[in-house]
Amino acid sequence: MRVLVTGGAGYIGSHTLLELMAQGHEVCVLDNYSNATPEVLTRVRTLSNGQVTDFTGDVRDANKLDEVMQAFQPDAVIHFAGLKAVGESTEKPLLYYDVNVAGTLSLLHAMDRAGCKKIIFSSSATVYGDPVYLPYDEAHPTNPTSVYGQTKLAAEKMLTAWTSAQPGTTAVLLRYFNPVGAHASTRLGEDPKDVPNNLMPFIAQVAVGKREALTVFGEDYDTPDGTGKRDYIHVVDLARAHVAALNYAVDHEGARPFNIGTGDSYSVRDMVAAFERASGRTIPTKLAGRRAGDIAEMQANASRAQTEMGWKATHTLDDMTASTWAWQAANPNGYINTD
Ligand code: NAD
Ligand code: UD1
Repeated sequence: MRVLVTGGAGYIGSHTLLELMAQGHEVCVLDNYSNATPEVLTRVRTLSNGQVTDFTGDVRDANKLDEVMQAFQPDAVIHFAGLKAVGESTEKPLLYYDVNVAGTLSLLHAMDRAGCKKIIFSSSATVYGDPVYLPYDEAHPTNPTSVYGQTKLAAEKMLTAWTSAQPGTTAVLLRYFNPVGAHASTRLGEDPKDVPNNLMPFIAQVAVGKREALTVFGEDYDTPDGTGKRDYIHVVDLARAHVAALNYAVDHEGARPFNIGTGDSYSVRDMVAAFERASGRTIPTKLAGRRAGDIAEMQANASRAQTEMGWKATHTLDDMTASTWAWQAANPNGYINTD
């Protein structure tokens, strides 16, 4: 298929490009580089030995979208482009609604104009909010507790309404759990611009000596060791879920959400221990109070993705930490000043 990948230069998008090309799909990227660098696509081209058409532009720019649609004529769109920092979303709610909701609206309009009928959307487990029961399945109530989560749920609802109104259209809503890890080549990985908000990139920066110690946010949760437990998913497994979703979209209509996780969960202490195993380094930690908005535990019931899309995560926790360490050690400054 010919697949337009918005946000394709980002962390998950770049890994997905490789998996798409490995399965024979043709790809085109639209990215505004607000959280990425063109160096990523250079590396993707080298790793794949393939062609990546790319356009620099914003998903909210209708003229740019028309230009891309006309030039590339995609059969489907994978929509990664968006903003993802929970804390920032509270400070800049209108920006988050603009990029994540108005950006998706602008893309749907352009798809309509071009006659493109299939979209795979980057949603998040954060749409569920406080767990009523665990593991979350796709029927769990949605009640996001952050502006970021609200924008993802609003976009899901818009996509669902779009498919309801137009027979022949498909929206696959992928609710990611906690993506971590890096490509086995060590050439692609997560490269946060500022102080990392998320656990794994923070641990990796401590291991490589960029930061002194990991702050553990709370040790008084109702979990075996008192620290928060999450369902971490290797980014390559996540990338493959998009290929599975495209195949699913070929013969399914309408909108359908899928949890993309492993069904397992690990605590902060588990993650530190696994990273120490992978890196052979000690990760100093210091204890702080709970981070506002955090929950004790969450994990996916990912059986729908397996039953209906034939997708299942295969990477282990040690694969996640070893690949993160290999990426961080080979690229201590991310995509900048390396080689
Ligand atoms: P990322 O920031 O690495 O990638 C997003 C890409 O979109 C970047 O390359 C950025 O430059 C681009 N972009 C941002 N705004 C744009 C705009 N207006 N127009 C064009 N391009 C734009 O993030 P990621 O981790 O790869 O996440 C991809 C998607 O998955 C996002 O929508 C995010 O909300 C969602 N998601 C991520 C996580 C996670 O933990 N990484 C979890 C759940 C959902
Ligand atoms: C966070 C977001 C979530 C988003 C996800 C993307 C919040 C409240 N939630 O999820 O909406 O979809 O990222 O991956 O921001 N931890 C520490 N020290 C740190 C960082 C994290 O102890 O420096 C702990 C957290 O308390 C949590 C666990 O590590 O128990 C995982 O945290 P994180 O990687 O930020 O992911 P989530 O909070 O699950």
